[in-house]
Amino acid sequence: MYTEKVMDHFSNPRNVGEIPDANGIGEVGNAKCGDIMRIYLKVKDNVIEDVKFKTFGCGAAIATSSMVTEMVIGKTLEDALEISNQAVAEALGGLPPAKMHCSNLAADALHEAIKDYMSKQPKEA
Ligand code: FES
Repeated sequence: MYTEKVMDHFSNPRNVGEIPDANGIGEVGNAKCGDIMRIYLKVKDNVIEDVKFKTFGCGAAIATSSMVTEMVIGKTLEDALEISNQAVAEALGGLPPAKMHCSNLAADALHEAIKDYMSKQPKEA
């Protein structure tokens, strides 16, 4: 039912935890199941230098969060904003249809964290 990549990221999630001095934090809840995901970003010079996540959710949610962290490290904010839920699911080799909604958390939380970072930047005059 799950691809090897999903199982790998679920059993061995990358970048789990918090960044104490994160400058962007995004949290989203999944309306379908009540699960929650939080993503912490450390952004410098418009590039994501570090990212960590905490997910209170199912295995598919953990695997997609782990995958999304690997996809965004070293990316510019603009490139990271382009990552869609679909792209995350595809990077994992697909998810079972009943679990596609779980992948929504990952990219949404990432986008929220980027918006949070941007909203904290001084406005250019
Ligand atoms: Fe809630 Fe998967 S069942 S995120």
